[in-house]
Amino acid sequence: MNYNTCFQLLLALFIPCSGLCWGMTVRNLNFDQFALLEFKDRIAGPQNVLANNWTASTSVCNWIGVSCGILHKRVIALNLKSMNLRGSIPPHLGNLSFLLSLDLSRNHFYGHLPKELGQLHRLRILRLSYNRLNGEIPSWLGNLQGVRRLRMKNNNFIGTIPETLVNMSNLEILNLGFNQLSGQIPSSIFNSTTLEVIGLYDNKLEGDLPPITNAPKLEILLLWRNKLSGNIPNSISNASMLKKLELSRNLFSGPIPKMLGSLKHLEVLKIFDNNLITGSATDHEWSFLSSLTNCRNLRKIGVSGNPLSGVLPTYIGNLSKSLQYFYADECELQGIIPMEIGNLTNLLLLQLDYNKLSGLIPASIGGMRNLQGLYLSSNKLGGPIS
Ligand SMILES: *[C@@H]1O[C@H](CO)[C@@H](O)[C@H](O)[C@H]1NC(C)=O
Ligand SMILES: *[C@@H]1O[C@H](CO)[C@@H](O)[C@H](O)[C@H]1NC(C)=O
Ligand SMILES: *[C@@H]1O[C@H](CO)[C@@H](O)[C@H](O)[C@H]1NC(C)=O
Ligand SMILES: *[C@@H]1O[C@H](CO)[C@@H](O)[C@H](O)[C@H]1NC(C)=O
Ligand SMILES: *[C@@H]1O[C@H](CO)[C@@H](O)[C@H](O)[C@H]1NC(C)=O
Ligand SMILES: *[C@@H]1O[C@H](CO)[C@@H](O)[C@H](O)[C@H]1NC(C)=O
Ligand SMILES: *[C@@H]1O[C@H](CO)[C@@H](O)[C@H](O)[C@H]1NC(C)=O
Repeated sequence: MNYNTCFQLLLALFIPCSGLCWGMTVRNLNFDQFALLEFKDRIAGPQNVLANNWTASTSVCNWIGVSCGILHKRVIALNLKSMNLRGSIPPHLGNLSFLLSLDLSRNHFYGHLPKELGQLHRLRILRLSYNRLNGEIPSWLGNLQGVRRLRMKNNNFIGTIPETLVNMSNLEILNLGFNQLSGQIPSSIFNSTTLEVIGLYDNKLEGDLPPITNAPKLEILLLWRNKLSGNIPNSISNASMLKKLELSRNLFSGPIPKMLGSLKHLEVLKIFDNNLITGSATDHEWSFLSSLTNCRNLRKIGVSGNPLSGVLPTYIGNLSKSLQYFYADECELQGIIPMEIGNLTNLLLLQLDYNKLSGLIPASIGGMRNLQGLYLSSNKLGGPIS
């Protein structure tokens, strides 16, 4: 049973309803039915699944995609994912006052989100990803204090991310990736005791990353392909549960902070294609690698496409044995490839092409039995490959 279903069952059982509410049920079912029929009227084309299924001849509780509470028989979930539906979202959905879960993802819904959805005070899950919704992310979303999962990626939302989102005081997952959002990331996003996943990738967000003041549950932070600039703040270490940090394809500059090494649970670090450097102007060692040796679950390091320069330190061999991917192409790397790299025995992919590496290819690479991809072209390496 997935999270969704489990949740619905639990809540359906606990929403109180005494024997008295039978009469009320009939009236309210008509109320829900009215809202759903209005919704159906907005869906274009006779081919849609709802056309012959959502008919007044049966109870809404038997309609496809509709779940009702066990006792009160009100609509608690509307799951119309991947039904090839085309249309706008009518304000009437705001009348489904017992709704816990609304999933309209992977359809062709367009237009703005009607403000009446802000009346759905019981809502826990809102999934609208992969549609063509547009307009701004409405600030009234903040009224939906029960929402745990807000997924609205792959739409055409514009404007800024409203501060009020943080008023969703139970929010665990926020995904607004693949939209056209601009402006700065509101600092309140990094002051949340509930957020576990923040996905704001592939937007047009700009400015500095706000300080991470309080993010005790944050595990996944995906901000790639935006226009974010400034340093990667040391306060990133406050997100102590972080497993995935993806900041690639932005305009970040300054040194890669050694504080990353305090993220003990880090598994994936991707900071491709920025303007990051290593160490200080005088210290060109890849000192961030020494701090990353503390991250014992690290699987991927991607630093390609940054003007890091410097040399690979011998303690690259101290990185976690769990490391599988090391991407460092186009980094202006100099000097030799240290033989200690051979200590990374679980490496699947080593990418060091388009650098200024010289000397011999270390024999220890030949001992890396799991290696499936080795990219060394466009360097000044020599000698035999053993
Ligand atoms: C509508 O779909 C549901 C679920 O697939 C099905 O049980 C029900 O019989 C259908 N109703 C009609 C009127 O086709
Ligand atoms: C449901 O909502 C719509 C629009 O928000 C409203 O006009 C309508 O009166 C409501 N329906 C009922 C039955 O209350
Ligand atoms: C958050 O909700 C509180 C009431 O719960 C309200 O006073 C406050 O203005 C809201 N904040 C924002 C930013 O909407
Ligand atoms: C973080 O949030 C708490 C409560 O929500 C608030 O009191 C505090 O001022 C916020 N801190 C910052 C730095 O925004
Ligand atoms: C972590 O957050 C606190 C505020 O909660 C802040 O004072 C501190 O500077 C932050 N840590 C770092 C390394 O910035
Ligand atoms: C790397 O590991 C060796 C052997 O365990 C240790 O002596 C050395 O201090 C480590 N270096 C770094 C930078 O962690
Ligand atoms: C790391 O590699 C060096 C050189 O290949 C070797 O001497 C050393 O024993 C290795 N250390 C570990 C911990 O595997």
